[in-house]
Amino acid sequence: MKAIRKAVIPVAGLGTRFLPATKAIPKEMLTIVDRPTIQYIVEEAVASGIEEIILVTSAGKSAIENHFDYDFQLDTVLKDRNKIQMREELNNISNLIDIISVRQKEPLGLGHAIWMARNVVGDEPFMVLLGDDLVMSKVPCCKQMIQLYEEVGESIVAVQQVPMEQTHQYGIVEGLPTEYERTYKVDRMVEKPAPGTCNSNMAIIGRYLLMPEIFEFLEKTTPGHGGEIQLTDALLALSNKRGMYAYEFNGKRYDAGDKLGYLKAIVDFALSHNALGKPFREYLLSVCNNIAKQ
Ligand code: G1P
Repeated sequence: MKAIRKAVIPVAGLGTRFLPATKAIPKEMLTIVDRPTIQYIVEEAVASGIEEIILVTSAGKSAIENHFDYDFQLDTVLKDRNKIQMREELNNISNLIDIISVRQKEPLGLGHAIWMARNVVGDEPFMVLLGDDLVMSKVPCCKQMIQLYEEVGESIVAVQQVPMEQTHQYGIVEGLPTEYERTYKVDRMVEKPAPGTCNSNMAIIGRYLLMPEIFEFLEKTTPGHGGEIQLTDALLALSNKRGMYAYEFNGKRYDAGDKLGYLKAIVDFALSHNALGKPFREYLLSVCNNIAKQ
């Protein structure tokens, strides 16, 4: 069984859900407490043992690459000013992991974005992490999936149960429970089903562990939901050929690409922040008291 060493993070999306904030900056650079959302995603991958990140980018996304790069000028200024801790923190970011970028030249869909990474991924299983989905958990979500892969040896999609009236916002999986905890064998999968057209509320969230054969299926996938090349359609084909598991991960997922989801993430990540957690909690309690009095 081949080890999981690489992770693809598609960051080519326009971020229209977050305009006007994302007019001039990539949505992945929006800050949650003290770092951009993309850094949480990269840190999750690193904490799960990933050795190489492949970013699928588009025009206007260079701030993401710069964020993980070494900035000689800034480093020199911090050194001259004796800002030791800040210097160390910034250098830790640029030393986190090897990052390779490939370009998605046209916005043809998530499936197409992943397909752009095929030559860099090569013939080995890999992770996909979507930048909008932040997961707070004891064991990183990506690591939980790698641990399951070590038992089942097949592709895995992370899922969570959502209210039935929200199923049209997600890729939805139908499947039967297996002998592995919180794990289902995928039967059927459909991208953003119209309300009332599916019986399952198991929604795919943005973490996938995929066999390299996915690229063969992506190559053949024709535009699906919304006229885009959907990863979910290629996943179903891969699942029909060699089987696939859906895993209800342990943890809490935030849709950081949505304004309310982003606010919830800020509150929870601030509450669990080492230095800010305690004073922020006190502030939040005072806000709650004021609201209760109104
Ligand atoms: C993508 C996937 C969808 C998945 C979702 C999770 O959709 O296509 O299957 O459920 O991410 O966030 P998007 O939200 O990019 O439209």
